Amino acid sequence: MKSIFKFSLILLFAFTACAKKTPELVFSVGGAPNELDFWEEIISDFEKEKGIKVRILRQPTDSDQRRQGILIPMKAKIENPDIFLMDIAWIPQFAASNWLLPLDEYVQRDKYSLKPFWKNILDLSDTYKNNIVALPVYIDAGVLYYRKDLLKKYGFQNPPSTWSEFLKISKKIQKAEREKNSSFFAFVWQGAQYEGLICNFLEFASLDGGGFSFTGKLKINTPANIKAADFMKDLINKWKLSPPNTYTDMKEEQVRMFFQSGNALFERNWPYAWGLHQSDNSEIKGKVAIAALPYFKGGKSVSTLGGWHIGISRFSDSKDEAWAFMKYVVSKKVQKSFCLKLGWNPARKDVYSDAEILKKYPHFKDLKNVFGNASPRPAIPYYTQVSDVLQRHINSIVAGKTDSKEAFNQAEFEIKNIIERYE
Ligand code: GLC
Repeated sequence: MKSIFKFSLILLFAFTACAKKTPELVFSVGGAPNELDFWEEIISDFEKEKGIKVRILRQPTDSDQRRQGILIPMKAKIENPDIFLMDIAWIPQFAASNWLLPLDEYVQRDKYSLKPFWKNILDLSDTYKNNIVALPVYIDAGVLYYRKDLLKKYGFQNPPSTWSEFLKISKKIQKAEREKNSSFFAFVWQGAQYEGLICNFLEFASLDGGGFSFTGKLKINTPANIKAADFMKDLINKWKLSPPNTYTDMKEEQVRMFFQSGNALFERNWPYAWGLHQSDNSEIKGKVAIAALPYFKGGKSVSTLGGWHIGISRFSDSKDEAWAFMKYVVSKKVQKSFCLKLGWNPARKDVYSDAEILKKYPHFKDLKNVFGNASPRPAIPYYTQVSDVLQRHINSIVAGKTDSKEAFNQAEFEIKNIIERYE
């Protein structure tokens, strides 16, 4: 009898010990190495402040690879990761697949104010069936980085507004710089076969009729899209202003490092590159400026809307803790620190009017217009599938392997099949 009592006591003790174990949140996030290091700092502050442990699941920078990393546990309905960052482009798929925890109940319970966020972004990306399912962490929009020292050296006052001005400046400066630096290229951008290629493409497709539409009348194989893809190909193959590995290797970080090594005049990238370009070990510190992307005469500058949002898995077993972490990540304090430390564009309006922010980033006032006009990718649940098709065909045009008209025709055929499956 005594030993049974003892055994029950041990069991009870073990059970209470288990039940009391503090839950550990698993947070899946990717990015450049300095971004991941900063996440570790944020997490350690959160742990100290709230007493909730968070384990970070480090992922690469590439959006498609990051999605794959989350897709597998979601399809298997596994509780880890509890919480993750999502590319704005995949939220409709995640929401429609029922992987995201609806948050209205939490928002109401805590009387949590959504006012600091842009309503159009919440409506466009973070709401599904009238319920908030995510919150924005930072906003991205494509911009043109340029070497202000080189423009000045060759007698150009301003960065180019149109692609024809861009070509004139690029050809002249590349030719002259090549005399002492054979690795110099005028323009680096994201041309590898992945989501970044679509973001770049949409910015080149700035003429009327450019871009894509998959609902209602299909818009894929249009003269503006053909012109854009041919121009991208010519930058590499005809004018040789962009490196030959643009369509094989160039993703955000490859492009950023190339420009930062001092071997390029122009760079297309997202705002995160700014902070790194200005860091102490950058070859181009103090020599860089930002402008809106050029456009074809008759069109207007287009910047793709990107950005990363935070959502909680419906399968998480620590939903309350995940919600506490989510609120922390989008709080003014943390958003401000992302901005000061990484140069990210905050998703909260109140950070933009902060004096410390404006002092450090006077270029924010130039970016305001870019953000105001940034164009979203189609918010449809099967977007990533059609994007895969487009990535393959546009990459093949840019590589000079397929004729652009034929490639868009084929893409249209494949996309029609995808749409039929969803309707
Ligand atoms: C950036 C953007 C994201 C986009 C990706 C493409 O991370 O924020 O929206 O899909 O780049 O590479």
